[in-house]
Amino acid sequence: MIVQDTVLRNEWIVACRSVDVQDRPIQVTIMGERVVLFRNKEGIHAFKDLCIHRGAALSLGCVREGKLVCPYHGWEYEASGACVKIPQLPADQAIPGKARAIIYGCAERYGFVWVNLANQSPEFFALPEFEDQHFRNVIWGPQTVMAKPPRVVENFLDVGHLAVVHEGYLGVETHMEIGDYRVHRDENGVIRTDEIKIFQPDPDGTGQAKHVYYTYEILRPLTVKFTKRDAENGNLMSILLTVMPLDEARSVAYGVLSFNYETNLSDEEIIRFQNLIFAQDKPIVENQKPEDLPLDLQVELSLKCDRASIAYRQYLTEMGVTFGTA
Ligand code: FES
Ligand code: CO
Repeated sequence: MIVQDTVLRNEWIVACRSVDVQDRPIQVTIMGERVVLFRNKEGIHAFKDLCIHRGAALSLGCVREGKLVCPYHGWEYEASGACVKIPQLPADQAIPGKARAIIYGCAERYGFVWVNLANQSPEFFALPEFEDQHFRNVIWGPQTVMAKPPRVVENFLDVGHLAVVHEGYLGVETHMEIGDYRVHRDENGVIRTDEIKIFQPDPDGTGQAKHVYYTYEILRPLTVKFTKRDAENGNLMSILLTVMPLDEARSVAYGVLSFNYETNLSDEEIIRFQNLIFAQDKPIVENQKPEDLPLDLQVELSLKCDRASIAYRQYLTEMGVTFGTA
């Protein structure tokens, strides 16, 4: 089922990790659309995964001299989408102008491949940690969830569940109260919470429980960030979460974990811990009703500590994200 959301179709949507696209084309489903990604010398390109000749999936083909070759009759498409070779056509006949692939916007950034289904190239959100050599960045995901993206994103912005769902990992039951905080918007349109003081059982892997400061940021409709600051030593850890709508019912979550300090953990261990935390959230998020995040603030009952979630709901309303389906 195609997700007909004009706002999201104009966004950069994460498609896969950069490392997932090597010398063979791959298929990803984004908002119900089958997309083929392939790499050549110029970079990565995204087409609708459909050959105009007989509807074959181009992702079953191969890349030859920088062109995407259809698996069925060998038509060759260059990166612009134009078909430049039809092997069955006698040499004196021109390739029909209609022989083209439908192309999408595509970019490689922050360790991921991003697709714009409207074939636009909007400005990217900033992720300074990724460009800063003082930070170590670990790519996380994919994680598929049976829930719509706004529920997945809101769970990430939800500070109240940490000491409940992640008790012993990200919070403790003796410290469940959350102080009030405000939400602000900066000149770039980024929505950011004040620092929220949280008691964590082991914020930096040394086994020492202490207070740390959490900040949540809303960067784009499906991209948010969390930063943890340890006031004692200046340690910063941030997690960027970005979610791809796979179809009407499923989401795929990806992330970047950034550290400005030594952790003694390998990338695999960091990923494993993040998977464990995500596995604790998953049954909650997959069973929330309604599946669509209620944007009417009178629906559901919020507390003051839900300000980040409320700001997110207001932001989606303002952006006009409806997650409509056809
Ligand atoms: Fe692609 Fe025939 S279906 S070349
Ligand atoms: Co959680």
